Amino acid sequence: MANIKYFLGEQIPLEMHKVRVVQRLDLVPIERRLEAIKEGGNNTFLLFNKDIYLDMLTDSGVNAMSDKQIASMMVADDSYAGSATFTRLESKLAEIFDKKFFLPVHQGRACENLLSQMLVKEGSLVPMNYHFTTTKAHIGVNGGKVLELYKAEALNPISSDPFKGDMDIDALNALIAKEGPDKIAFIRIEAGTNLIGGQPVSLANYEIVSKISRDNGIPFIVDASLLADNLHFIKQREDACKEMSIREITKRISDASDIIYFSARKLGHVRGGGIITNDEKTFKTLLEMLPLYEGFSTYGGMSVREMEAMTVGLEETMDEEMINQGPVFIEFMVNELTRLGIPVITPPGGLGAHLDAMAFLDHVPRGEYRAGALASALYIASGVRGMERGTISEEREADGSDHLAAVELLRLALPRRVFTLSQIKYTIDRIAWLYENRKLIGGLKFYEEPKVLRFFFGKLEPTSNWQEKLIAKFKADFGESL
Ligand SMILES: Cc1ncc(COP(=O)(O)O)c(C=O)c1O
Repeated sequence: MANIKYFLGEQIPLEMHKVRVVQRLDLVPIERRLEAIKEGGNNTFLLFNKDIYLDMLTDSGVNAMSDKQIASMMVADDSYAGSATFTRLESKLAEIFDKKFFLPVHQGRACENLLSQMLVKEGSLVPMNYHFTTTKAHIGVNGGKVLELYKAEALNPISSDPFKGDMDIDALNALIAKEGPDKIAFIRIEAGTNLIGGQPVSLANYEIVSKISRDNGIPFIVDASLLADNLHFIKQREDACKEMSIREITKRISDASDIIYFSARKLGHVRGGGIITNDEKTFKTLLEMLPLYEGFSTYGGMSVREMEAMTVGLEETMDEEMINQGPVFIEFMVNELTRLGIPVITPPGGLGAHLDAMAFLDHVPRGEYRAGALASALYIASGVRGMERGTISEEREADGSDHLAAVELLRLALPRRVFTLSQIKYTIDRIAWLYENRKLIGGLKFYEEPKVLRFFFGKLEPTSNWQEKLIAKFKADFGESL
């Protein structure tokens, strides 16, 4: 995106790309939207594309690829072992991150599986700035416990703290002093904390955590899935980094860490993932596990076409005008929602705009899943699919009670370079209508509930006929408009 001053004074972002391949979309009538969400058990994961107008579920595996990425897929070198495509990707990673060893995997959570199996034992502790769903599940399956050491400001929905994703350093020191380093399997920092609004981590924080981990002999692992947004924010918001290039910032983060892993569904705009390290022992241990779970060491479950495109995508990630598209669009959306008085997480982060369902639906009881109800209501009102990031995304306590999430968010992910500004404006319009009519929205309850990661397949129903009432009001206000 370019920093442009407009003659007419409007403040809108300007794209530095053109769209040359398009995909047809439909906006089905509101009656069909109600049927579709009921068929999907009020779980937006269970909707089908044919019923969705704008898919803001995630940015995972659905970011737009560049012409150069698509072109590179045509020259991929297909072989089970020793493909030149793998060597190109390995060299690109070594060039950008300055780490010698690379293990390819099929997606981000596969890294979490391998790393947790290698490092986590029964009773291990794993401090982190904030958990991600699959990370926590893998650590838990291996007998470990996640400890979230975030700053108090991290959960404050209305904030001007530029780095809400930073780890609380005092809490980390206190934990090591209390438990001793041996009990700590590893320290994890997630670049651009997914579950609390894509909030970034400062370079200073990575480097302090690194020093503490090295002083105590504890491995320091960076989850770099959302690194691209984080690099942009470090350059924009951290005084000491304003003159640094994206490449220099990347290298400093890499130098600070012992292991980096990533979902390439986010980082690199393809479908895959990987683990990189300079530590040969770590590499060799993981290498033994790789064929069992992922595939041979030169593909790891990925197609060579995706790997070839990842090489190009990683290089493009070093381009500031490319990686700022997401954050700039998100900032536009968050600022407009804020101007309209709609509760949304601030400051704007990466990944997407996050509606604060805790405040939006403060009349809905906490046990009736505010963020899930808002996801269902927004889909009905607009055909826009968001993702619940609140209590439904948590696991139940051992005694069967719900673990009420610290935040109830409706995440509206903005896959990079996929939506236009008019589509963003339509979404803002429908959210504004919904906010005006929020008291019509009621809660949800489970009628089918899986034990693990229930948010993927769980099914819920409304606690009253609020959805029909919402549709009646929509019809009264919009007539035959879709
Ligand atoms: C921060 C973070 N870590 C790990 C993952 C898991 O990656 P994947 O979906 O590729 O398995 C994700 C996915 O959204 C993520 O956002």
